[in-house]
This record gives sequence, C-alpha cells and structure tokens, in this order.
Amino acid sequence: MTSTEKDMENLNVRILKNFLSDEDVKLLKAAIGKEREENDPRRVRLESLQSRQVSDFEVPESVTKAFLDGAHKYGSPTLKEAHHTFFEYSGRYNGETHCAPHTDRSASYFSMNYQLDANISWELFVNGKEYLLENNDLLVFSGTHQIHWRPRRDLTKDEHCAMVIFHFAEPDHWRFSKLADNGAPLGENPTPYEVLTHKWQDNDIMAEYWDQYLNDRRYEHTLRPESKWII
Ligand SMILES: [Fe+2]
Repeated sequence: MTSTEKDMENLNVRILKNFLSDEDVKLLKAAIGKEREENDPRRVRLESLQSRQVSDFEVPESVTKAFLDGAHKYGSPTLKEAHHTFFEYSGRYNGETHCAPHTDRSASYFSMNYQLDANISWELFVNGKEYLLENNDLLVFSGTHQIHWRPRRDLTKDEHCAMVIFHFAEPDHWRFSKLADNGAPLGENPTPYEVLTHKWQDNDIMAEYWDQYLNDRRYEHTLRPESKWII
C-alpha cells in the first residue's frame, strides 16, 4: 500500500546489518572510485561547510535492486528511487565536520543511509535516539519527516566516514512531477525555502533536539553556537 506522510513521521527507524553482498560492495566501491578519479566538477564537489566530498556515481544494477527491494520491504511497495549520492566526511576537506539537527529539503521521503567505509564510529541520531552503524550497515528513516543529526566532532585528516545514500518517494511526490515540456523531473522542492525553514526550525521539538545536540560533548570539536547549520 502507498505510504502517507504520517507513515513517514512514524516510520520504524532501524539498522539493516550486512546489507550488501561482498560482490556488490566491490562493484559499488569501483563505481564511486572511478567518479572520484575522473573528478568532473559537475559530478564531484567539495562541501567545505560540512568537510565532505560529494559525488555522483553510476549505480551497479544489482546494488539498485538491493536498495529498491529494501525500500519496498521497509517503506512501501510503491516507492520509487528519487535520488542517490555518495559523500565522505574527513578532516582532509578542511571544514567543520557537522550535521546539525534538520530535516531534508530534497526528496528524502524514505532514506537509506549506507555506511560504505569508515574508520571511525560516529553516531547518527533520529528523533533523539542514537544509532551506530558499522561498515556495510544501513539506517532506514525518513529524511524529510524525521529530525536527524550527528554529534559535533572534528575529524582528523586520517579519519573518514564514507556514506552512500539512497532516497525514495511515492510516485505522486513532487520529485516526479513533470516540467511543462521537456518531461524532466523537478529537481527542486517547490515549497519556498523560507517556508520550509520556518516549519522545520520554529517548533518545540526541534528546540529540544538542538538542546540535546549542543549539550552533547562526547567528542572534541571547535564548533561554536553560531555554527548552526540549516540545510
Ligand atoms: Fe539530512
């Protein structure tokens, strides 16, 4: 059955262990490695604010199937892939490594955050509860309907955390609406940014999670309160 926004608010957040086969991990790493090596600025870019490199990549067919099957099983059988991306956090990228409490502006209605390769343990929080992934685990949650973040932390140049993210949405989602003539899907959320930030940020629940985030001192970090990051 097609899911509703309410379903996404109440989605059962869960970790799926050992998600991909060894062969799929190999294929995925090769596909991402190739993009990063080619380093085409249209497909590979630096987000220094979050100290990470972001990259597009060609998804191996068997990997697409694994994620889609997971989305249908744990989300709803009508979900379609909205977008996917790769990013690697590291101190090498010379920025503050941070991911403050937020919900996503992109079409991250049903999200699968897969840890491809990390040499650190770095918790993810969804709606105030913490989850810890190992390599080849993924976290299922709703990027647009559940508030998520990671504890503040400065990464050294030797530390990295590489994630592959797949997002899914229902067929009637704005992501799949067609533009007038060329038939291309909408890349941008049609709701104005100001409206979204007001809806996301100005409420008691978000204030509570910000308190939790700012009072979490488990890692060394140089972030200041004004480093609040809003997507
Ligand atoms: Fe997010």
